[in-house]
Amino acid sequence: MIFIPHNCENLIQHIFHTAIHTPELHHHAMKKRTVIITGATSGIGKTAAHRFAAEGHNVIMACRNLEKAGIVKQEIIDVSGNDQVTAIKLDVSSSESVASFCNTFRQQYPKLDVLIHNAAYFDHGASYKLSRDNLELTFATNVFGPFLMTHQLRDSLRKSDDARILHAGSNIIKHFFNPKLHIGFDNLQGEHPESASFKVYNSYRDSKMALLMLTFRMAREFEPDGIRVNMLQINGATMSEETLQRVTPGYRLVARTQNLFFRPPEFMAEHYLAICTSDQFRNVTGQLINHRREPMQPGVENPGPLEQIRQAVGADRYPRYALDKEEADNVWELCNRLGSTHLRFPG
Ligand SMILES: NC(=O)c1ccc[n+]([C@@H]2O[C@H](COP(=O)([O-])OP(=O)(O)OC[C@H]3O[C@@H](n4cnc5c(N)ncnc54)[C@H](OP(=O)(O)O)[C@@H]3O)[C@@H](O)[C@H]2O)c1
Repeated sequence: MIFIPHNCENLIQHIFHTAIHTPELHHHAMKKRTVIITGATSGIGKTAAHRFAAEGHNVIMACRNLEKAGIVKQEIIDVSGNDQVTAIKLDVSSSESVASFCNTFRQQYPKLDVLIHNAAYFDHGASYKLSRDNLELTFATNVFGPFLMTHQLRDSLRKSDDARILHAGSNIIKHFFNPKLHIGFDNLQGEHPESASFKVYNSYRDSKMALLMLTFRMAREFEPDGIRVNMLQINGATMSEETLQRVTPGYRLVARTQNLFFRPPEFMAEHYLAICTSDQFRNVTGQLINHRREPMQPGVENPGPLEQIRQAVGADRYPRYALDKEEADNVWELCNRLGSTHLRFPG
């Protein structure tokens, strides 16, 4: 979800693409994959679950609300005719739930081919909240949970001959074109919960940048295992009424307006499918991929005013901040430090 005025591109696309553009996937002899999608009860995750099931894949919906997931699962089975769709409970913000999900998965499936970290927390306007592990909820859901889960599923991914991980990114990271901005994970464990300056919006922005840094790092770490790790830069998808109801009225108004210009979730779901299954992306790793399925490049160094605008409204550059080694190391070390209290890394 984004609330900054860099949607000009969306508007232009919307005018020229009234119909949903779903390019054909050039997959010959598509192999049946075992696919985990987190947050498959609504929005892009739900649509993606439909899409993967329609292609005959084995779909595991990782969802915190099993009742809701059960209804969606049945709908997917009815529509696709594919009964290889399962829902397993996962609250990705809880390390206990992540561990329990991963154990259940490992007991039931010999390997994992595709892991899509789609679920996210973005209740804009909400007050400061801690997860069950006493971590700030945005960070717990959008960064640490996916990090833990990926590590706990690493062995299952290793067993695949074509393992791919996809992180759901957001245009919100464009805020980091502002060279003064830094990730502010200084309130992760309730150090100053009364702080009036806390905003889920900022926390969400930082979480998506941190996840991009983890994408680059994990791609390198997992290269020897043949596991590909990429992120999709989501530049908007129509939000459901339920999602809109979670944000405060001011944000809701902006989101409703954005919804007029956003494409339906099917558009991004198609990208999930392509990045995770097509031959085109078979050997692509460590990339932030835009809505045209092109790898994005780091922003130019010392851009002039015009270039700054071009980068901010365009879809070919991400902020160079994502490559800041010290900041990226901080994120990696933070996740490892927290992780060491919750898991022992394999290998
Ligand atoms: N829509 C956009 O314009 C947009 C723009 C940029 C990026 N994105 C990114 O795209 C992804 C999907 O967004 P969306 O708009 O499709 O969202 P959505 O419709 O609100 O769906 C979010 C999903 O995540 C699940 N979820 C939230 N917290 C969870 C937790 N702790 N454990 C397990 N599942 C959890 C929700 O489950 P419940 O059904 O139980 O609530 C729901 O299934 C997110 O990563 C988002 O950041 C979206």
